[in-house]
Amino acid sequence: MQVSDDRGSWGSRAGFILAAAGSAVGLGNIWGFPMQVGKGGGAVFVLIYLACVFLICFPILIAELALGRSSRRSPIEAFATTRPGTPWWVVGALGVMAGVGILSFYVVIAGWTLAYIWFAATGAVVGSPEQIGGFFGAFVADGAKNVVLSFVVLAVTAGILLAGVREGIERASKLMMPALFLLLIGLAARALTLPGAAEGLAYYMHPDWSGLTNPAVFNAALGQAFFSLSLGMGAMITYGSYLSRTANATTSAAWVAGLDTAVALLAGLVIFPAGFSIAGFDPSSSGPGLIFAVLPRLFGTMPGGELFGAAFFILLSIAALTSTLSLLEVPTSALVDRGWPRKRAVVTLTLAVGALSVPSVLSQGAVASLSTLPGFEVSFLDLMATVWNNWALPIGGLLISIFVGWVWGADRAIEELTAEGQTFPAAPLWAFLIRYVCPLAILFIIVMTARGMFAG
Ligand code: TRP
Repeated sequence: MQVSDDRGSWGSRAGFILAAAGSAVGLGNIWGFPMQVGKGGGAVFVLIYLACVFLICFPILIAELALGRSSRRSPIEAFATTRPGTPWWVVGALGVMAGVGILSFYVVIAGWTLAYIWFAATGAVVGSPEQIGGFFGAFVADGAKNVVLSFVVLAVTAGILLAGVREGIERASKLMMPALFLLLIGLAARALTLPGAAEGLAYYMHPDWSGLTNPAVFNAALGQAFFSLSLGMGAMITYGSYLSRTANATTSAAWVAGLDTAVALLAGLVIFPAGFSIAGFDPSSSGPGLIFAVLPRLFGTMPGGELFGAAFFILLSIAALTSTLSLLEVPTSALVDRGWPRKRAVVTLTLAVGALSVPSVLSQGAVASLSTLPGFEVSFLDLMATVWNNWALPIGGLLISIFVGWVWGADRAIEELTAEGQTFPAAPLWAFLIRYVCPLAILFIIVMTARGMFAG
């Protein structure tokens, strides 16, 4: 089959690492990770998360890159051309659906981030913790405003994809990712010197082992790890398909996983000390508002807090944008590989995702007004996040590890990864992880969670 001329490629290995790290580092790290730590009971969640990253997700990241680089195709075609005439292409199709589903709620939160640039810069969010929390609640309940904001995020994403400015994204990431890092370190330094910080640190770093008996925590940690590393739906197959054969995929993968994990851990180091410095802070029930209600308090205690706050939400918006690009690129590349013009693919998908984002937006108002009724705490947005993150991504990852480990074959993947004289000293360990540890561990977690759900 002729490879379409529309198929891009990365300018350099550094460009690839930045784009892939840009996809990985996003709201998942700074908004999602601390929230999940709070729900999952603190340090024990962090440890389970790290185990999931290193034993399950890192091997799958390498597998996705190998499959993409070898097939030079978007996910559906990558499976179809590697094993023609088999139903494996369905895994790619599941990934395309996950891309649309995840993007539909991701743009809503990215829209909040965008608005908070303005709120932080103008000092709109001040007052007691209750007032700051109330401000967030009232803001997300404003459906019209938030529909517009999510559409703005989508339009910017679509515009960049349409222009095909990968050069621009790569360059922007090069500037913004280090800035995000520096700002996070600065914020952590401030947070750690607040009164009450020690309590937050203890919560974050001293595990309460009783959490180990709850399968839902394992499921949440696994889902969070897949989400944070952009795995399980073929985003890294797609990004790998633009990778040159001379670029070492395994060391690039280590950079991406390392940067992503470092940003998530740092975000927790900001949020928990800052949170516990506020009287009556309860990390387990803060939910999606965690960073929006806690960080403005922190900025309020800092000289030049308005500037700092605005800068923080600008960088978070950019981190979100480099992630929405990869989410929309997966379904786009699938349609382009089926012969659609890139423009028609982007426009059609943008409209579909826009329509699908509306219930997520409106569900926030519903939650605010119905939260006094039992059973209504879970919004449509939470539901989307759970279905895609905790179920679709791990199931996608399970199927990808079986495909690469057994169907395509770990040996053939290693041949691909060591092409052109590249070294991969950990190849035997990787083969063991991808063939046995990944599928069994994911299966175990999924089955335990399902049993827990039906039993309880
Ligand atoms: N990793 C991103 C984050 O942490 C979200 C994301 C972007 C993603 N592309 C993805 C998640 C592909 C799953 C699959 O915010």
